Amino acid sequence: MGRLHALPARPSGSAFAPAHLGPVAVRNRLIRAGTGESMADAAGRIGDDYVALHAALAAGGVGLSFTGHMFVHPRGRYGELQAGIDSDDAIAGLRRVTDAVHHRGGRIFAQIAHAGSQSMMFDSEALAPSQVDNVMTGRHVRAAHDDEIQEVITAFGQAARRAMEAGFDGVHLHGANGYLISQFRSPLTNRRQDDWGGDQQRRDRFPLEVIRAVREQIPTDKGLTMKVGLADLVDQDGGLAVGESVLGVAGFVAAGLDGVEVSSNLMSDYVSASIRGYIAVTRKRALEDLLLHRLHKPPEPEGYFLPFADAVGGAVDTNVIVVGGLRTAETIDAVISARRADFVSMARPFIREPDLALRLADGGQVGAACVSCNICLMHDEHHPLKCWRTPRANLLEHARYRLAGGFAGKGSGRKPSAGGAAD
Ligand SMILES: Cc1cc2nc3c(=O)[nH]c(=O)nc-3n(C[C@H](O)[C@H](O)[C@H](O)COP(=O)(O)O)c2cc1C
Ligand code: SF4
Repeated sequence: MGRLHALPARPSGSAFAPAHLGPVAVRNRLIRAGTGESMADAAGRIGDDYVALHAALAAGGVGLSFTGHMFVHPRGRYGELQAGIDSDDAIAGLRRVTDAVHHRGGRIFAQIAHAGSQSMMFDSEALAPSQVDNVMTGRHVRAAHDDEIQEVITAFGQAARRAMEAGFDGVHLHGANGYLISQFRSPLTNRRQDDWGGDQQRRDRFPLEVIRAVREQIPTDKGLTMKVGLADLVDQDGGLAVGESVLGVAGFVAAGLDGVEVSSNLMSDYVSASIRGYIAVTRKRALEDLLLHRLHKPPEPEGYFLPFADAVGGAVDTNVIVVGGLRTAETIDAVISARRADFVSMARPFIREPDLALRLADGGQVGAACVSCNICLMHDEHHPLKCWRTPRANLLEHARYRLAGGFAGKGSGRKPSAGGAAD
């Protein structure tokens, strides 16, 4: 199927040229994907390190940043170090972030989320569409009542209002990776037979209502995008499939999205589904980074969600954002110039090299230094976000924490297979 929307002709290599994402002008087509910063205090408020991280990304030339997922409601909090946008108290701190980014010529969207039964806050009452054990956390949560669902929709709208008051250029909804929106969209986790479930149209009602509530709060010169899980990637039949999922995406776009970032819906674990290991790691890179067990294995392929991008781009008139294992300037240019996506987003590469956009743009570097070892993922919700391979002392710190049993304690609510380093 051909694209329904006509994009202006772009010369090859224009990933690094200015563009528009909906109404928002950006200096290039590279996006820092939502990556949990793990830098918030007990109330979910952020501090200097969070501001500095986003300032460095903007100074490093990325066109647009998505923040890590921020909870819109206390019951939707994913982890203890996660930032929140659930209260007006969050606005002043987040204003410092947007000011720092704008001062450096960047743009930033607030990623807003509700973790549903994938929440690792075991002391608080989580929320789920139906009473189905969460595949990642094992949590057993009763089905939400209608008024609880309405409360979450309102909370998303209020979070968007706060994002606007804090000066964000737009909002990025988290509708993927197993969180509440994914749980409503999947027939495996949404067993309801009411207005919120029963067939795909009703399973898509919750995200639609969220989009409408959020769009109402966003002026026309600001953006609204969504990370959408195109299909369930779990070892169970009967999950959400790409074909019917794309029909839902068309409805979401009609309700007011400026772009769609494609990813997985339900997942058995992060590493095999959406945060895959050792992308584009050649023998030379394996040697340089002391990945001895990768010396005799071929590099894992780049761009593992490109088929999802093709599916959305072929059927829906919107900006397609592809995430998942994009690593080299050559691949990024090829994806953009072949119009398989309008924007490329990357998470792990920007952890290791916040200035990666500048490095790739001037041709000085052919690809990201990140080897997708996923040690940073292991430390998600344990320590503030950083690359644990460089400087080398970080690897020692990691080894000490691991040997001391750090991952068995606080914050490791997910099943052991869910967050570990790639192997
Ligand atoms: C440490 C870590 C934290 C992440 N946090 C988020 C998040 O807050 N929101 C989100 O949408 N995705 C999150 N992701 C997933 C990334 O956005 C991205 O989809 C995934 O890492 C694949 O892209 P990459 O190959 O460029 O890293 C996270 C990934 C990592 C490694
Ligand atoms: S620890 Fe560093 S090299 Fe490993 S995946 Fe994270 S950013 Fe990349």
